[in-house]
Amino acid sequence: MNDENSLGIGLIGCGAFGKFCMEVFREVPAVRIVAVADVVKDAADALAKELGVEALYDPQELIARDDVNVVHVATPPSTHYELLLAAVSAGKHVLCEKPLAMNVTQADEMLAAAGRNNVIAPVNFVLRYNAATELVKSILDSGVMGRPLAARLTNCAADSNLPVGHWFWDKDLSGGIFIEHGVHFFDLYSYWFGPGCVIDAHTEKREGTGQEDRVMCTIRHDGGTVASHYHAFDQAAMMDRTDHRIICELGDIRVDGWIPLTVSIDAVADEKGAEELISLMDGAENSSVEDIAEGLRNVVSRGVQRSVSRRLRITLTPNADKQSVYAGSVRALFEDQLAAIRDRSHARIVTEKNGRDAVALAESAVRLADPESEI
Ligand SMILES: NC(=O)c1ccc[n+]([C@@H]2O[C@H](COP(=O)([O-])OP(=O)(O)OC[C@H]3O[C@@H](n4cnc5c(N)ncnc54)[C@H](O)[C@@H]3O)[C@@H](O)[C@H]2O)c1
Repeated sequence: MNDENSLGIGLIGCGAFGKFCMEVFREVPAVRIVAVADVVKDAADALAKELGVEALYDPQELIARDDVNVVHVATPPSTHYELLLAAVSAGKHVLCEKPLAMNVTQADEMLAAAGRNNVIAPVNFVLRYNAATELVKSILDSGVMGRPLAARLTNCAADSNLPVGHWFWDKDLSGGIFIEHGVHFFDLYSYWFGPGCVIDAHTEKREGTGQEDRVMCTIRHDGGTVASHYHAFDQAAMMDRTDHRIICELGDIRVDGWIPLTVSIDAVADEKGAEELISLMDGAENSSVEDIAEGLRNVVSRGVQRSVSRRLRITLTPNADKQSVYAGSVRALFEDQLAAIRDRSHARIVTEKNGRDAVALAESAVRLADPESEI
């Protein structure tokens, strides 16, 4: 699988997601996995055995190796700051799991160190490398459905793999849901709607416990889209579900899945707009395009007179399951970053700034929800 000029990658954090990524990266010809490290010996040993590489129990040993060019940091959030700083200071490129950091002060320091050492340090924001999210971006950028006015993310996640003692519930280790998890969606919405700021935030604890399991906030994007984000980790595994509804001037876009798979539109358009939407939704099996009766074609929306001739209801579902789409996104992001290591003029979809800006939004949500919070 590997070529002679391949880059050496070392993993720090041999847990669930580090393992998932390594299983993807070992299929990438441009890299060779050289070692994995974990402070838990059994975790490092098990993954090293599966991959046929060396197991290390001290992350600094992995960072110091000459054959490691890229360090993948896949440990709990509170450790990212120290590990990323050590890796970039040793001249290693880093792929960091979300969140980049626990707060913006850390993030700025980390990215300044990466810049000084002339290495890249992006966050693994897989949602930007997904056919459904790219399609939504193309629809929004085309302007055919008018401006996006509002968006609502409903993210109801399962908590079956998150027992009470899991680091996820300890805000000193995870940063809480806005920081640990919300960053994915703050970044995605910045990709879709541009920069914004948090105008409202709230959190809820599980009754009788300190576990903050529901968080919600509202972001006003500079272009005028007002987006609400709801995250909950309280569902049975089989009921894990996520959807986005984007309300535009001329209709709705809906996206289904935390790893987005299905995109649906319900819109009105003129002839040209209808053609463009049909072409963007190419491959849809489920579509209905109706002629609007002559007498109803002149409409007013937001005070603007428009002429529409078609009502389109189109749903596009990929012929792929969640895990393969997820793995494909991880691979696409990684290959994009490798291209930038090889050719520093390569324009990446995800850059260091995205990791930092998502933490900034998450931090302001935390502060708005609890002004006393020590973040
Ligand atoms: N991009 C994504 O889609 C995505 C998905 C899941 C998780 N994640 C992120 O990946 C990271 C890891 O999550 P996970 O679910 O794999 O967690 P996990 O608990 O399954 O694994 C974490 C591993 O890190 C090890 N570890 C902890 N501190 C360490 C240290 N200082 N040095 C070396 N090893 C250390 C632990 O022993 C454990 O094996 C988190 O930041 C999480 O937010 C990203």
